[in-house]
Amino acid sequence: MRMLVTGGAGFIGSHVVDAYVAAGHEVLVVDTFATGDPNNVNRAAECRHVDIRGPELEAVFAAFRPEVVNHHAAQASVPISVNDPVADASINVLGTINLLQLSARYGARKFIFASTGGAIYGDPAEVPCTEDAPPLPLSPYAAAKAAAEVYVAMFHRTYELDFTILRYGNVYGPRMHFRAQEGLLVAIFASKMLRSEPVTIDWNGEQSRDFVYVEDCAAANVAALEHGSGGVYNIGTGLGTTVNRIFELLAAITNYRLEPGRGPKRQGDVFRIYLDASRAARDLGWRPTVALEEGLRRTADFFRSRP
Ligand SMILES: NC(=O)c1ccc[n+]([C@@H]2O[C@H](COP(=O)([O-])OP(=O)(O)OC[C@H]3O[C@@H](n4cnc5c(N)ncnc54)[C@H](O)[C@@H]3O)[C@@H](O)[C@H]2O)c1
Repeated sequence: MRMLVTGGAGFIGSHVVDAYVAAGHEVLVVDTFATGDPNNVNRAAECRHVDIRGPELEAVFAAFRPEVVNHHAAQASVPISVNDPVADASINVLGTINLLQLSARYGARKFIFASTGGAIYGDPAEVPCTEDAPPLPLSPYAAAKAAAEVYVAMFHRTYELDFTILRYGNVYGPRMHFRAQEGLLVAIFASKMLRSEPVTIDWNGEQSRDFVYVEDCAAANVAALEHGSGGVYNIGTGLGTTVNRIFELLAAITNYRLEPGRGPKRQGDVFRIYLDASRAARDLGWRPTVALEEGLRRTADFFRSRP
């Protein structure tokens, strides 16, 4: 099949591209490299420097005629969304609408959308949280993802564009990017620990998350090619792990000896979330396969091998 993968030079998207290429599909990546890296893109895939909001995207659709559009391009940082909600919505809402419109216009069969189970439910009353819990975003990022989901479902009803929405937990693994303030937790901890630099734990460290390994997420995107029509799926492990526990596990893996510093709560952060993914098991045949300690070891190996 011909697949258009937006954000395919990014952390998760590049693993999705690898999985699609391995399954024998023809893949075209669209990315601005805002946070992604062209070196992440599988050599068997084509790659275009195009903004999902821009008018040049139409020529890409007209020439490539994707059968499936897999949408991972985003402004993916909660702190950045708190600082500039308009810029966040421009990419995460308007960019998604532009893609949906072109997908319908050029006859794509299906739209697979990377959403967030880690943020869309806010702090749910019950955990593990099912897809039936209402979206109660605490950050502009989560609100934009919730809005985009509404558009995805509307395009299905009105334009018959099939979809699957995948709501990921906290994804971690090789190619996560490290940025001091807005980076992803495991990437910040692992890369600092390997350099024996001080690590700061925000809030009290007892906030818990559902850490899901990136290759497991990529496998969900493969399953969504044939299954999960019109469905919304949590993609997580069903287990909550505290930030303090992640610190301990990574400190052991990297032989880190320093005590953590303590920082304030960050605006927009959720305290406790983990996801019930039994619907994905039932409909997509998807289950997480990589245990947390093994995944953290592989992630630390990735940062160890970087200059
Ligand atoms: N990392 C997580 O834990 C997590 C959890 C839930 C959902 N998600 C979602 O998964 C997707 C991928 O996240 P990620 O962690 O790999 O982030 P990422 O920043 O590595 O990937 C996003 C990609 O989109 C590209 N991009 C940004 N703006 C663009 C634009 N206007 N046009 C084209 N490309 C653009 C970036 O260059 C990057 O390659 C995002 O939609 C994110 O919201 C991530």
